[in-house]
Amino acid sequence: MSVEIFPVLGVPEVAPGDDLAELLEAPLRSLAPRDGDVVAVTQKVVSKSEGRIVAEDEGGRAAWVARESVREVARRGDLVIAQTRHGFVCANAGVDASNVGQGLLTLLPEDPDRSAEGLRRALTERLGVSLGLVITDTFGRPWRRGVVNVAIGCAGLPSLVDLRGAPDHTGRILEATVVALADEVAAASGLVMAKAARVPAALLRGIGVEAPATPASGLVRPPEEDLFRESPLASISARRTIRAFGPGRVPHEVVVEAVRAACTAPAPHHTRPWRFIALESAPARRALLSAIAEAWRADLRADGVDEATIVRRIARSDRVLGGAPLLLVPWVTFRDAHPYADASRARAEREMFLLSAGAAIQNLLLAIHAQGYASCWISSTLFCQEETRAVLRMDDAWYALGTVAVGPAPAESPPARPALDPEEFLRSI
Ligand SMILES: Cc1cc2nc3c(=O)[nH]c(=O)nc-3n(C[C@H](O)[C@H](O)[C@H](O)COP(=O)(O)O)c2cc1C
Repeated sequence: MSVEIFPVLGVPEVAPGDDLAELLEAPLRSLAPRDGDVVAVTQKVVSKSEGRIVAEDEGGRAAWVARESVREVARRGDLVIAQTRHGFVCANAGVDASNVGQGLLTLLPEDPDRSAEGLRRALTERLGVSLGLVITDTFGRPWRRGVVNVAIGCAGLPSLVDLRGAPDHTGRILEATVVALADEVAAASGLVMAKAARVPAALLRGIGVEAPATPASGLVRPPEEDLFRESPLASISARRTIRAFGPGRVPHEVVVEAVRAACTAPAPHHTRPWRFIALESAPARRALLSAIAEAWRADLRADGVDEATIVRRIARSDRVLGGAPLLLVPWVTFRDAHPYADASRARAEREMFLLSAGAAIQNLLLAIHAQGYASCWISSTLFCQEETRAVLRMDDAWYALGTVAVGPAPAESPPARPALDPEEFLRSI
């Protein structure tokens, strides 16, 4: 098998509202296109023809990057790596100043797969041959220097070719090989799309694939398969208290990894004074919630709170904890605290253990978030130690530290955190 790649030369400057198929028709015709050829077109000309050009107004580029982002993945200085609403993770959410003219920016097409399909159909009709079409953009890669063309839109060819189950040349069955064909086409087209030389398209011949056509959206790795979802720094700030979860369960491995992270927290005297009880079954969760509710009801009655308010407050708390597919009860023990004769040092010693438990629980929450799940730390069991110990069969060396409700992240992201100035919390001397 051999592949040929031809630059598409002589495409005029593209302006908003231009019919891109019309502009590409003659330059492509000069290459005598054949059935099965694939046309690669840069995002830049697609965005220009679709009017996805904006002025770099007051907010400048950063404001457009924020508008085009649904999630910040990493940041260093002015460089922002963000996820676009299409799911692509790239520098500046695809907002680009190159090759558009002073003070202007291009945004990614609204729906690059739809653009690819529209252009594929139009070109197929004009040229009378059946073509594949890939819209390319230039992305950097984590771990590797240099940029490479990748596919952001794909029509008329499979974006992915699944080779799993097929034998390799030695007869061994491939277990994990899914080839990103549209990305390979895009990267190959980059060889003839010299940036400054105004080559906005390429024709590729010899990409023989039998599989059905699939869009470029299939190239976006779903969050649950994504091991590198956020930079560590972005992940810490992105964790939120989530009080209503998405559907589904929390796999046991997620809990194990979260507890592993929790147990790396610093603690006094090289101890690990923590335990976590995971209530994975519904009856276990119900037993704990009933015990908490009873204890709370008794406290509120003793405070003189009226029955209607008591019912409302318990129901509100129950909505979060009762709606979670998993509850984790964190515990600390002061057993290994050094004994001191005076009350002041004895209290400080106890507080050290409590602080370490706070650090462990924060690690737990961060590790839950890093695995794509959501959590909410609720005070609950802190206020009913005896009842919690009884229902979870812990001896009185253990002190319960609330309850962490855990569940799948809801489809809707939580609102952005209010802006925060770290300098207000910092005194440098
Ligand atoms: C020890 C502790 C107990 C908490 N208890 C509750 C609670 O009982 N109910 C609740 O809705 N939130 C509770 N929270 C969450 C806080 O109220 C606060 O809303 C949350 O930490 C802020 O949201 P964020 O994590 O997204 O920044 C608790 C937090 C901590 C640290």
